[in-house]
Amino acid sequence: MSARHPLPAARHPIAARLLGDPAAVAGVIERFGSPIHVVFPQVMAENAAALTAVLDRHEVPHEIFYAHKVNASTRFLAQACAAGLGVDVASAAELDRALAAGFAPDRIEATGPKSPALIERIAALGVTANADDLWELDRLAAVAPRGSSVPVLLRLSGFASPLVPLSRFGIDLADVDAALETVRRARGLELRGVAFHLDTADPTARVDALTESMTVVAAAYGKGLRPSVVDIGGGFRQRFVDDPEPFQRYSQALATAAPEELVWPGYDLAAPTAHKYGNHRPATDVLERFLTAEIERRPVAEVLRECMLTLWLEPGKALVDHAGITLASVLYRKRAAGRDLVVVDLSRNQVTPADQEVLVDPVLVNGTGDRPGEGVFLAGRLCLESDLISRRKVFLESEPRSGDVLAFVNTAAYQMDLSASSAGGHPPPPKVAAFLEGERFTFVPDDIHGS
Ligand SMILES: Cc1ncc(COP(=O)(O)O)c(C=O)c1O
Repeated sequence: MSARHPLPAARHPIAARLLGDPAAVAGVIERFGSPIHVVFPQVMAENAAALTAVLDRHEVPHEIFYAHKVNASTRFLAQACAAGLGVDVASAAELDRALAAGFAPDRIEATGPKSPALIERIAALGVTANADDLWELDRLAAVAPRGSSVPVLLRLSGFASPLVPLSRFGIDLADVDAALETVRRARGLELRGVAFHLDTADPTARVDALTESMTVVAAAYGKGLRPSVVDIGGGFRQRFVDDPEPFQRYSQALATAAPEELVWPGYDLAAPTAHKYGNHRPATDVLERFLTAEIERRPVAEVLRECMLTLWLEPGKALVDHAGITLASVLYRKRAAGRDLVVVDLSRNQVTPADQEVLVDPVLVNGTGDRPGEGVFLAGRLCLESDLISRRKVFLESEPRSGDVLAFVNTAAYQMDLSASSAGGHPPPPKVAAFLEGERFTFVPDDIHGS
């Protein structure tokens, strides 16, 4: 018998409580069907409070904008609004939802590439435009009502530091002078600040980007502009495991054992994204390390305070870390390609972000089957060979049987919506928000599906 390599997922106490109550899980499936995404707005509130506490402790003036793209849930939007956060929208539809959720335009910023129609709405509403390109700035300048002051952030790119990952987004530092001139000459724009977004937890990379961004702030002042914000985007990490050890052992096994033991034939586990699933440090650590890192021997927090800059953050995954799970019924199991395969009432794209392999095991809710064997592969229901929910062998706590419920833990960040399709006539799973009140959960339908 080959070795088992379970990758146990960390579970938030609220998720653990639901998963420890098979009758409640069965009730959810009975009422809302399988598959179903369950979101926990209370966990989001906790995550927001934890990030805020770090910023407060370092006395950094700040605003947190929830990156709505991470999950289409309207319940998360409502929770972010109630918690006093702002919101980062990346499309006209997200802007509509943010307004409907009660965010005032001055609590909204628009990031990412924008259509002319969206630019017009941003200008008319006075939403903060986080400009991706000179073209956007020109259009904004053209449509901003004369005499208004539509707030603008310049999203910067092309940093000199080799630690900052290259990006297709933002205005290259080489073009920054032109961007500042456009804002200066425009009749209806106001430079609120500069911005970047790095998809890395490396504090040194973020500090390098900040240092280069501050030179743009200085250049703006030189032109008579008065920026007051540095927006460092999102990219704070999720905490997938309590203990990194099993992940390390698994990685070693992948490198040394015959990979066909652990991975479905024809697949390789993408190394660049794999490392993130071994993370056991919370996003608050990433933020703490950034604020205490030094620029010319002074902590970032102190530098920001002295320069009277307000720090903006746009966390997505850090705010919804552990704030959702996905439940799906086991249809049947079979032998295929010489392996044990469990077919699940779910499609890979409905629980997998951008086709990344998710490297934590699902949980079998109240599994009463035999003691677990050598692990199983999970397949979806589409007529695609590639519709494998796990391209790697997963290790469950007992052998899954038809009608059992599998819970995919910590799926609220991008996993539910980023790649979800209706292929094969299977619409993206509906969402339901679960609220723990005392000893009991109440479940409220969440009406937006997909991004
Ligand atoms: C501009 C911008 N801000 C914030 C985010 C949120 O990032 P994360 O979910 O990693 O915090 C993204 C994600 O793509 C982004 O593009």
